[in-house]
Amino acid sequence: MNAPLFLTLHEFVKKARQKLNQDRWDYIVGGTETETTVRRNRLALDSLAFRPRVLRDVSEIDASTRFLGRKLRLPLVLAPIGGLELFAPEGGAAAAGAAQQFGVSHMLSSVCEPGLEAVAQAAPDALRMFQLYARGDADWVDAMAERAIAAGYGAFCLTVDTAYYSRRERDLAKRHSRSGPMPAREFQARLTWSDVARLKDKFDIPLILKGIATAEDADLALEHGVDAIYVSNHGGRQLDHGRGTMEILPEIAAAVGGRAPILIDGGFNRGADIVKAMAAGADLVGIGRMQCIGLAAGGEAGLVRMLEILEQEIQICLGLLGVNAWAGLDLSYLHPSTPVGTGDTLGAFPLLSLEEKSFY
Ligand code: FNR
Repeated sequence: MNAPLFLTLHEFVKKARQKLNQDRWDYIVGGTETETTVRRNRLALDSLAFRPRVLRDVSEIDASTRFLGRKLRLPLVLAPIGGLELFAPEGGAAAAGAAQQFGVSHMLSSVCEPGLEAVAQAAPDALRMFQLYARGDADWVDAMAERAIAAGYGAFCLTVDTAYYSRRERDLAKRHSRSGPMPAREFQARLTWSDVARLKDKFDIPLILKGIATAEDADLALEHGVDAIYVSNHGGRQLDHGRGTMEILPEIAAAVGGRAPILIDGGFNRGADIVKAMAAGADLVGIGRMQCIGLAAGGEAGLVRMLEILEQEIQICLGLLGVNAWAGLDLSYLHPSTPVGTGDTLGAFPLLSLEEKSFY
């Protein structure tokens, strides 16, 4: 595997597609029912144009940031993904390893191998966060929080947009087992704000709620002492006919008003997408499907290479906007515009049919 030979992000997409069977590919790209939410994530990003400023010294660009007291080379988190072992044998350990090597943060899904202790060992120095699906009662949830703390995770995240597992028609059509009954799923549906209050009360670890999609819930989260708000529609894999997350971000940013950091994900596949989120008030951007694609295309080294290309895209975008650090960026750099695509999951890669010289 000669990772540096990937020169564009779309080459990863093509390579991953070649390597994965149809089931695994569909698991990555699919969403719920009509996949309207998936498309809206992309369309919301594509409906924003930049307002660049010129003649400022942008010879030095610093795209790093700080999150939870740690310096990150880019304002990114590798979003929690269940079953990463389908894309690289080391699963979550490969993703955490790439995060550590490159210098971004990692959030481990509770339904990802090889589990939270092994991932902690694989990437002891990364800013690692742990994301939980409730698959048991309050005692079970609390025991998982204790394990995350013991293994040195920097934050504990509860995903709250998954009361029910949605109907993923790409899987259902194939009678694929992932859409069948899930063990102990009802515990997730029973979660309420009192669970949030209990976790805040009992544990001394930053608490994040993933799947906040309204200002009202962002407010409630802050009232309950939640430490960071993760704006997400689960990549369009849960509620269909939701808003694109870039449509949601302005009301959340206004409600939060700087009281807590904001994470966001959903269709942030290119450097320019990440810059748009940061201009609109995000503090950290989650990379979901692209992480699977990076791992499938080239394992841990491939994912590091993908992050390098994202960094180049971000730095060039910032420089061309006349900005040399995140602090200089705000909403005045964005303007509503006509989307050029149709919102396809891979709409950020319109050049997939280009032939590269085959040097893999
Ligand atoms: C996910 N997502 C997810 N979220 C979560 O909280 N726990 C999980 O275990 C998973 N598993 C998962 C598997 C796969 C294959 C995908 C694509 C996504 C959602 C994920 O964290 C994130 O919210 C979205 O993927 C972000 O959208 P993009 O970047 O994929 O468009």
